[in-house]
Amino acid sequence: MRVRLTDNQRKLITDGTEAERKAMELLVALGEIYEADRLIPISSAHVSGASYKIVGEAGLEFLEEFSRTARVRVRTTVNPLGMDLRAWRQLGIPEDFASRQMRIVEAYRRMGAEETWSCIPYQIGNRPSFGEHVAWAESSAAIFANSALGARTNREGGPSALAAGITGLTPNYGLHLEENRVATIRVKVAVSVDGYEYSVLGHHLGRLLGMGIPLIQGLDGEEDEIKALGAGMATSSDITMFHVEGLTPEAEHADSPGLEVLEVGEREIHEAKAQLLSAEDYELVAFGCPQLSERELEEVADLLETEEPKVPVWVFTSRVVEERARKAVGRIMRMGGTVVLDTCPEVTPLNLVAKDVGSPAAKAAVYLPSLSGQGVFLAGGRELMRRGK
Ligand code: F3S
Repeated sequence: MRVRLTDNQRKLITDGTEAERKAMELLVALGEIYEADRLIPISSAHVSGASYKIVGEAGLEFLEEFSRTARVRVRTTVNPLGMDLRAWRQLGIPEDFASRQMRIVEAYRRMGAEETWSCIPYQIGNRPSFGEHVAWAESSAAIFANSALGARTNREGGPSALAAGITGLTPNYGLHLEENRVATIRVKVAVSVDGYEYSVLGHHLGRLLGMGIPLIQGLDGEEDEIKALGAGMATSSDITMFHVEGLTPEAEHADSPGLEVLEVGEREIHEAKAQLLSAEDYELVAFGCPQLSERELEEVADLLETEEPKVPVWVFTSRVVEERARKAVGRIMRMGGTVVLDTCPEVTPLNLVAKDVGSPAAKAAVYLPSLSGQGVFLAGGRELMRRGK
């Protein structure tokens, strides 16, 4: 066996609960596959697989069984559920779905996970510092943690992130190691990229590159744009880290001479947008993939006050953000918008409400068609308000 365990780690296998033993076996097996030398401590875990729409009956049964003997040892946050826990009835969720979803909530509650149900842990308080080791599932969150914060995580699956939360450990390989965090290609963006185009650019780069670590030049966005860029990129590839010159904390040391160069101009962005379109019109606009930050809620409120949307507007965010952004939430609701908590456009059965959806997110443009057979019209917020059915 290549993975060396400490005595305490070994004890989790010999004397731990059934869940601890299973969690350790999974982490050691992963470590063996990826040739990790040891398991290292983490400061937090972020788990995916909380929506009944996604995990189904098998996932529900696994979580109920596992939660009998599982308790988290480190801070553990969980991805969005399949419904708004407060307003699911008004939002058209069937009783049967809701009762199964509640059993998943109970299982995570028993394990001691934080009940924030969000894919943006980094914007609601679970924000690791530079160099901190974490084990995060949810591709958009893992890529953000590595790229924007300089924290260290591989792209975990739901089970391995949960195992990490239970043991406080993760195998030491991949992006936990300094030498694997350098750029593998240089990307020159020769066009001004704005708003939702960050997500389109991310998706385009992911599709072209597939893997590796791009060092991107020519962007000047802020945190929410980096978030959109990463979410788009992780949707179309295995990329779990990128650097942006002048913006992300490890960019300066990520460069190396002789990197291959890829140029992105207006034509590429235009073609990438066209490639993501799967509907001409739509019955509902859904903002929030990833879930919206406080600043993004303000922007939607501004739009609603200056435009007259043709179709209903739903805004997906976390209960923590809603709490902090009461003013923006009030403005959105006064203008007729619906603020949805605890869930997201893809993992809730939105297809019961709208056949086709308008969205500014490349990830939604990929997942709504594949998960629910919905079409997506992809555009910026203002255009989405002006069109519709
Ligand atoms: Fe988040 Fe759901 Fe999109 S989990 S990144 S809003 S698919």
